[in-house]
Amino acid sequence: MKISIRAVRLWSGVILFVYVSMHLLNHALGLVSLSAMEGGRVWFLAVWRNPVGTGVLYGSLSAHILLTMWSLFSRRSLRMHRWEVSQLVLGLLIPPILVNHILGTRLVSELFGVVDNYHYIMLIFTHFAPSVGAQQIAILIFAWVHGCIGIHFWLRLKPWYAAVRMWLFAGALLIPVFALLGFSQAAHEIQVLLKQPGWLQATMASIRLPNPAAVAFVENGKIVAWLILFGLLATTFGARFVRSWLMRRKGLVRLVYPGPQIVDVTRGLSVLEASRIAGIPHASVCGGRGRCSTCRIRIGESEVALPEANEDERKVLARVGAPPGVRLACQLRPEPGRLQITPLLPPTATVRDAFNRPAYLQGREEEIAVLFADLRSFTNFSEKKLPFDVVFVLNRYFSAMGTAVVSAGGHLDKFIGDGVMALFGIDSGRQQGCREALSAARAMSEGLEELNRSLENDLDEPLRIGIGIHAGPAIVGEMGYGQATNLTAIGDTVNTASRLETMTKEFGVELVVSEIVGDYAEIDLTGLRSEEVSIRGREQPLKVRFAETALEIPVTGIRAKRRRAKRSDNSVATSEIPAKSK
Ligand code: FES
Repeated sequence: MKISIRAVRLWSGVILFVYVSMHLLNHALGLVSLSAMEGGRVWFLAVWRNPVGTGVLYGSLSAHILLTMWSLFSRRSLRMHRWEVSQLVLGLLIPPILVNHILGTRLVSELFGVVDNYHYIMLIFTHFAPSVGAQQIAILIFAWVHGCIGIHFWLRLKPWYAAVRMWLFAGALLIPVFALLGFSQAAHEIQVLLKQPGWLQATMASIRLPNPAAVAFVENGKIVAWLILFGLLATTFGARFVRSWLMRRKGLVRLVYPGPQIVDVTRGLSVLEASRIAGIPHASVCGGRGRCSTCRIRIGESEVALPEANEDERKVLARVGAPPGVRLACQLRPEPGRLQITPLLPPTATVRDAFNRPAYLQGREEEIAVLFADLRSFTNFSEKKLPFDVVFVLNRYFSAMGTAVVSAGGHLDKFIGDGVMALFGIDSGRQQGCREALSAARAMSEGLEELNRSLENDLDEPLRIGIGIHAGPAIVGEMGYGQATNLTAIGDTVNTASRLETMTKEFGVELVVSEIVGDYAEIDLTGLRSEEVSIRGREQPLKVRFAETALEIPVTGIRAKRRRAKRSDNSVATSEIPAKSK
């Protein structure tokens, strides 16, 4: 079984939280009496002061401290949500105060025979060293708040959490309040006992105090522990500095956000960290822990091979039914180079969005644009070439066409033989979908030209394609069986788009697009020849436009419309015209 660092940090934190809760409940028994506190302590020690309890407790404490340092080292940016900052600062404040408590109780008990019961604790806190008492009250509050924040941000992604949240919140408030009241009541009882003649001497003897060696041990041990903790922190920040210097030398990652907004960051940062550094609002309900999926992004044009998603990321993406080409921004750390990305949820996304699978996955009718593209005369080529050459050329072609579709913001539905089917506007609407489809057609034509240039010596004649685009209602949903299940569309719009693609052969053109696509996109296609054609299976003729090459689609029209759409639409952009302007 593989145990992730995240799981160790989480479960060590949970164990420490259980320990602190039991400790506080034990303090709360002071509301009954000092003797009740001592009675509770017997049970408390039975759980934690034995070889197994000791191993679990101190193992968890060490692991949690070390993994907090690791997380401080691994996060490339220190920009965080306010709640993350609070949790981190409280977490860092706890160990320096805690060492005093561990040395002064457990260790002096084990090494010097001091009886570290509540009488001992309360005498120190209220009579001999009230400042130590104040410190311990502070650590109690820090540890509790630190733990509660961690528990809240872990559990809030559980579906049942909303139902019990108020009860847990009440517990989170009442437990420390009762503990402090218990302490205060016990302190009052001690004050009364101190007035009894001979009580102090008798109690000191029973807890084996004074013990100068134990006091010296606590004082010296505290300094050593502080030096170790400070050294750990200094090493962590030193390592961050060295890494950042090395990363800068290795090159920069250029992230292209919709807009386009360009952000250059050093290698090793996650996309979410890059958004935070650049001040680009980016949803991250779980704070970048890879649990909520709200930071997900669509990957567009990429100059670099992206690292594979790890198992945890794959699980989260599968939970929300994310299609290929979608990654978690908090987990993706791109290599130096240029990468186009589009955040898929608004920065205001909430916990609820973390569970929502897009409604269209269940199946619904949507107005979308559908594009079909097919290679011309490829059968001749494949008959004359070796299978290896055929596969090589086809894969280059698929890569060029796939990039064109994904960069434009479309969903690559399938490759059928040497053909491509793509859907646009599934989550961005009909108008945007039509713009994306036209943009993809242009990009496919450009990609094919480039491919022909690079394969000049391998091809007898340049590759040519036919593209058909139509828009209208279609049934969209996840369909198939087992691993062959994917998001697709069916209906008359799909059939018509396919027929328009077939028509490109008949008319000897690269593109046949129904006029309605230009109308929906609000892009002027009047420069393209138009005709009414009859389509098999349709009663009415369809007005279409022909283009010798898809490069005739007015690019300025597409970009201008797109920019206007961005300004007027604050909802999440889910598509991207290839940004070549930089
Ligand atoms: S921020 Fe929650 S999964 Fe990325």
